[in-house]
Amino acid sequence: MEAPTGRELISREEVAHRVEELGREISAAHAGEELLVVGVLRGGAVFTADLIRQLWVPVHLDFVAVSSYGKGASSSGEVRLVKDVDERVEGRNVLLVEDIVDTGLTLRYLRQEFAARHPKDLRVCALLNKPSRRLATVQVEYVGFDIPDEFVVGYGLDYAGRYRNLPCIFALSPEVYQQK
Ligand code: IMP
Repeated sequence: MEAPTGRELISREEVAHRVEELGREISAAHAGEELLVVGVLRGGAVFTADLIRQLWVPVHLDFVAVSSYGKGASSSGEVRLVKDVDERVEGRNVLLVEDIVDTGLTLRYLRQEFAARHPKDLRVCALLNKPSRRLATVQVEYVGFDIPDEFVVGYGLDYAGRYRNLPCIFALSPEVYQQK
C-alpha cells in the first residue's frame, strides 16, 4: 500500500478499539430509540461505515457533502453544502459523523443547518479533534481522539485526494504539505 512520508499516529487496532467504545456509548445513550446517522463526505465515510456496525440501536444512514480544503492543507474558511440528506430530519435523533474537527467552521455550519430543521436530538461524533486549531466554538458530544496540530491522513482522511484507504491514522511530515 502507498505510504506517505510521516509517522503512524494511531494504529488500526487503536482506531478499531475506540470505534467500538464509541458505538457502545452512543448506543447506550439512545437505547430504545432510532438513530439517523449522517456521515460527512468524503472524509467521514470510512469512520461512518465502521461506527454504524458498532451500534445496536436501529439505524438509518444518510450522507452530506461539504466543500473542503481543496488540494492544500489549509482551510479556505468557506463552507458549503454540496450534497444534502434525502432523509427527513424533523423529529429524528440525528448523529452527525465527522472525520476530524479542526477549525470547527465546517461543524458550526452543519450544526446550524441541521438544528434549523428541528431534529428531536442533534449530536456530533468526530473521530479526531484538533483543539489547538479551533476558530469557532462548537459542541462535539463524542470524540475518538484529541490529536496535536499535525496534518493527518488515512482512515478516510486525505491529502490532495490520496491516502484515504490507509487503515491507520498517519501524521504527514510538514515538508510534504508545506511544499505547495
Ligand atoms: P474544519 O472546518 O477546519 O474543522 O475542517 C473540517 C474538515 O477539514 C475535515 O472534515 C477534513 O475534511 C478537513 N481536515 C482538517 N484537518 C485535516 C487533516 O489533518 N487531515 C485531513 N483533512 C483535514
